Amino acid sequence: MSDFKQSIQWFPGHMAKTKRQIKEILPIIDAVAEVVDARIPQSSRNPDLKEIIGNKPHIILLNKCDMADADITKEWIAHYKQNGTTAIPIDCKSGKGIPLFKDTVKTVLADKLESFKQKGMVGKPLRVMVVGIPNVGKSSFINKIAGKTRAKAENRPGVTRGNQWFTIDKQLELLDTPGVLWPKFEDQTVGEHLAFTGAVKDRILDTELLAMRLIEILSQNYPDYLEKRYGELDFSLDSYDLLCLIGKKRGMVIRGGETDTERAANMLLEEYRNQKIGNITLERVDEYA
Ligand code: G4P
Repeated sequence: MSDFKQSIQWFPGHMAKTKRQIKEILPIIDAVAEVVDARIPQSSRNPDLKEIIGNKPHIILLNKCDMADADITKEWIAHYKQNGTTAIPIDCKSGKGIPLFKDTVKTVLADKLESFKQKGMVGKPLRVMVVGIPNVGKSSFINKIAGKTRAKAENRPGVTRGNQWFTIDKQLELLDTPGVLWPKFEDQTVGEHLAFTGAVKDRILDTELLAMRLIEILSQNYPDYLEKRYGELDFSLDSYDLLCLIGKKRGMVIRGGETDTERAANMLLEEYRNQKIGNITLERVDEYA
């Protein structure tokens, strides 16, 4: 996690290894649960996951829904449903939505459970692999649902040492992703959106430019939230002048009466991350569908 925050460098070699590890373990997995950040459902995904998991049943967990825009989270859920994938909102801070996960797994894998029954394998647990790019809350999810019930890897046939299994109950076992899955870093928007949420450190990106990009998105989709936080604004201004105006309103002025734009940018990004501006989702279905 911290390594990821330090740098957005990624290594194709590591990615290839992770893909190989996931593909190797896939035959003994019944479903894949993908944790994404509900504020940036598109940028917080691994672009190759679908290709890696093929037809394996897939559940999307829209985590951090406590920080996202609830209406847009619903739109994403409907969008995934339309595309044949079940998605549920979860919040690993409070635990909201976590109990629903078990039922969702059983619903999605109803055919599998029926086939276990037909084969006289009643009681065989369902095995779900949990995947997600760093910082989406994958560890928080596993900790929340599994508590301290880490299973012993060596007890499981066909499972390499080092893979972390968690026994949730008699009917469900979770596997943490072997290796690390990365987002689509080569896409500039993805990098920016990950930086807005704090998943990557912004010192590797230009803070003022980043804040200006955030202002563009917020001016378009959440102008009322911006005004509620920073007072009356003039949305005919460009994003740089809006940043200056916001900074001035906060008294971030340097000699000559100009805004200390770096301070203003840091403040804006910080306040977005700390949810001071509101529950905001930066990616909408119609922009990606
Ligand atoms: P990862 O395994 O996918 O890398 O993510 P991890 O669980 O470490 O979570 C990354 C950060 O996101 C953590 O904050 C964690 O507390 C926070 N987080 C996870 N799930 C939720 C959620 O549903 N809601 C909210 N609001 N936050 C969530 P951190 O600042 O890195 O650490 P800390 O504050 O927990 O010390």
